Amino acid sequence: MNCAKQNTDNSQSQWADLFDHATTLSSQCISQLFESDTRRFESFSIQHEDLLFDYSKNLITPETRQMLINTLENSDFYNARNDLFSGNKINITEDRAALHTALRQQGEHPLHVDGYNIIPDIKSALNKMYNFSKRLRNKKYLGYSGKPISNIVNIGIGGSHIGPMMVVNALKGLHHPDLTCDFVSNVDGHDIQRITQSYDPETTLFLIASKTFTTQETMLNAQTARTWVVDHYKTDQAVQSHFVALSTNEQGVEDFGIDPENMFTLWDWVGGRYSLWSSIGLPIAIMVGMDNFETLLAGAHSIDKHFKSSALEENIPVLMALVGFWNRNILGYQCHAMIPYDCRLSLLPAWLQQADMESNGKTVTRHGQTVQHATGPLIMGGSGTDVQHSFFQWMHQGTDPTPIDFILCAQPEHTHTEHHKILVTHFLAQQRALMQGIENTDEPHRNFPGSRPSNALIIERLTPYSLGQLLAIYEHKIFVQGILWNINSFDQYGVELGKTMANDIQNNWDQDKSGYDSSTQGQFNYIEKCLQPYE
Ligand code: F6P
Repeated sequence: MNCAKQNTDNSQSQWADLFDHATTLSSQCISQLFESDTRRFESFSIQHEDLLFDYSKNLITPETRQMLINTLENSDFYNARNDLFSGNKINITEDRAALHTALRQQGEHPLHVDGYNIIPDIKSALNKMYNFSKRLRNKKYLGYSGKPISNIVNIGIGGSHIGPMMVVNALKGLHHPDLTCDFVSNVDGHDIQRITQSYDPETTLFLIASKTFTTQETMLNAQTARTWVVDHYKTDQAVQSHFVALSTNEQGVEDFGIDPENMFTLWDWVGGRYSLWSSIGLPIAIMVGMDNFETLLAGAHSIDKHFKSSALEENIPVLMALVGFWNRNILGYQCHAMIPYDCRLSLLPAWLQQADMESNGKTVTRHGQTVQHATGPLIMGGSGTDVQHSFFQWMHQGTDPTPIDFILCAQPEHTHTEHHKILVTHFLAQQRALMQGIENTDEPHRNFPGSRPSNALIIERLTPYSLGQLLAIYEHKIFVQGILWNINSFDQYGVELGKTMANDIQNNWDQDKSGYDSSTQGQFNYIEKCLQPYE
């Protein structure tokens, strides 16, 4: 059987003791750890409220756990966690706090940023969302021609799109029966055309979700939607009834022609990928009602409290982060997968991809030096059982073993009990198959190496509360790993170069391109030739 990877010489590493320890474990397989300890599940699982986290199917022992905890304790973790919750400017490269936890604070405990208590502003933004969503859900919010709005279209991208779309999708069972909600993000005109071809402008409300209100894709989609509405009504006045802004940029919103009453604000201390808890969550509040939105916040808050106050050895986000770090940095796994066994959570891996990779896909430390170790892994995923018939071949027999988070909601909301039983069967079987493998020397193509690590997260039922918990666990896991890697998890400078180059190509569209490399020129010329018949 193929057990833990052998490590090369890591004696100089800051984690040398962990590398040495991994070498002592390298002759073992995960399944052997179960054979030698019948209480392994009890030792390596935690229950918090209705949620179970099982991390026993990793190549770790109690000693590994203790060493990992020591590593975290020797890092800047305690200071950083305190800075995170207290509003200190932990996002040093952008000189900002990262206070998504304040958005879900229950109660009115003052919290200051630059000497200013931000809690009353948060509560008043929630109140505005409450009034607006209630009006809309009660058919009191009318379009320009006096018809009640029945279709919501969110236009945004990145954090102003993926998080809200994933939550709206997950909580479909709680949607208002007379409302639909669609999401447009891509600058590809097919995306907005889908909307203009299938909706009635008189019953459609556009939520323009952009923290900056400058993002090219969002602003172009918003302008196209605006033209569609104005062309229909033959007056700019209609914009006030059919557009709402979720943004920090008052001037940009005003210039677009949106009624200031229809602007829902957020603040610079809310990072894009952490913004679904803010006004960016308005589509969620509209579709499932503000009470449910507030329950989502309460679920996340319960994890904030757990993360802040539980002992490290009982702290779910901390242990998840430490096991991930062990797999990534010590055992050398390059990818990490998330597989929800629940169709309602099919967009969760995409959400995690942005949350994790935009946060921890970095090569410089918080102080600008090149890191000497791996940082965030490639995040991939999809829904079980579908992925069992696509990339799970690679998971079981490929050359890059990949740790997986398996996610399940124990109680379904449907009545097809046989389906659920089978789903659960696969959820359990895949974890076991990856761990146990099977040796087949006669037919090597039927050999399964095994000892492939996984975690399981089981929530009792999918509710706004448990969904809030799930998301907050991952947010804090990402934060802890950022501390271990000594990187700033809250900036995203890596997205900028591509944007600048796109602007440059756009500005040079009709100009001489001889300054570009021959590949860019060759592709451009070919595209131009293909476009000619259509222009
Ligand atoms: O391009 C990356 C990014 O800045 C994300 O971090 C952000 O969620 C997204 O763009 C959208 O930004 P905005 O909400 O300002 O339009």
